[in-house]
Amino acid sequence: MDLFTPVTFGSLNLANRLVMAPLTRVRAGDDGVPTPLIAEYYEQRASLGLMVTEGTFTSDEAKGFTGQPGIVTDEQQAGWARVADAVHAAGGLIAMQVMHAGRVTHTEISGAARSVAPSAIAIEGETRTPSGKTAHQVPEAIALDELPAVVEEFVAASRRALAAGIDAVEVHAANGYLLHEFLAPSSNTRTDAYGGSPENRIRFVVEVVTAVVEAVGADRVGLRISPERNIQGVIEDDAADVAITYGLLADALAPLGLAFLDYMHPEPAGALAQDIRSRVNAPFIVNTGFASPTTRDEAFAIASADLADAVSIGRAAIANPDVVARWKAAADENEPDPSTFYGPGAAGYTDYPALAV
Ligand SMILES: Cc1cc2nc3c(=O)[nH]c(=O)nc-3n(C[C@H](O)[C@H](O)[C@H](O)COP(=O)(O)O)c2cc1C
Repeated sequence: MDLFTPVTFGSLNLANRLVMAPLTRVRAGDDGVPTPLIAEYYEQRASLGLMVTEGTFTSDEAKGFTGQPGIVTDEQQAGWARVADAVHAAGGLIAMQVMHAGRVTHTEISGAARSVAPSAIAIEGETRTPSGKTAHQVPEAIALDELPAVVEEFVAASRRALAAGIDAVEVHAANGYLLHEFLAPSSNTRTDAYGGSPENRIRFVVEVVTAVVEAVGADRVGLRISPERNIQGVIEDDAADVAITYGLLADALAPLGLAFLDYMHPEPAGALAQDIRSRVNAPFIVNTGFASPTTRDEAFAIASADLADAVSIGRAAIANPDVVARWKAAADENEPDPSTFYGPGAAGYTDYPALAV
């Protein structure tokens, strides 16, 4: 695979195989409405073959971070329409990551009456809320008869995203948030049809993705997973169970014909990655995870070994709005500054310089 050749994922015609990873930057106001500054940030990065937005909340209970944008209200939808218009005018493509934070949030952050999860198990340790550090809350286990409403929130959010002109949605089932909590036995101890066996633990993710596909079409739907990420108390340390669970998930998704699977794992050449890829019947985007920012060399190595159909990059795209041109030319790169990852304002957001031409 050549990183700089076009490719088609579902209804998306990417100009190249470099995808901007979903990156939470918390620059929206309390109303969750994307601002003109947010539109400018995405517009600057429109030369990536596809951008995936920051995780965007699908309901009040789903909101995970202060400053996170949402896709619940008309005002939020209008804000995203400004983003989509700016990206399209610059020739880019943008998918929205639709996200439910599950038990990672705190009611002081979400403003909701409760936080929810598959089971009433708190994450160990502390979280940061607007009023300081505090213990993670014990979430309420979502009742069986409440699950369809959560599915419906993902559907409504996805419909709004497309109505705003966003090109596709990526359902977030990675990094320890709600859907990932269902997949892992450490965070899912349900005794109903949604917990216990691997077949049961994948059920909710499959239901959400299937419902979103029915609403907006498989050619505009992707999914993000991060097996063995072991974060936020979602521990997947039984390799045999992981292989079975995610293999079954891939099999269940295969008939849908998704636009893409966004796979986050440090070993894209590993048996787990390539087994999932061979079973999922969807273009395979790889991201190698957090240990250190994805480098040009790593992306080229993944491409030349044909381990994926595209490579997703996070911090290099934060620091280099023109990362595609820089990587093509093997030019110098700006260094990402972690102190400005999570806002506020333009500093470390829209002020990274492009290459002088
Ligand atoms: C500031 C920051 C925010 C992130 N926000 C999200 C997010 O909203 N959703 C998500 O799935 N991953 C998120 N991630 C993970 C990235 O998508 C990506 O997997 C990670 O940065 C590793 O890729 P990299 O080494 O190229 O940066 C975030 C990472 C960073 C650094």
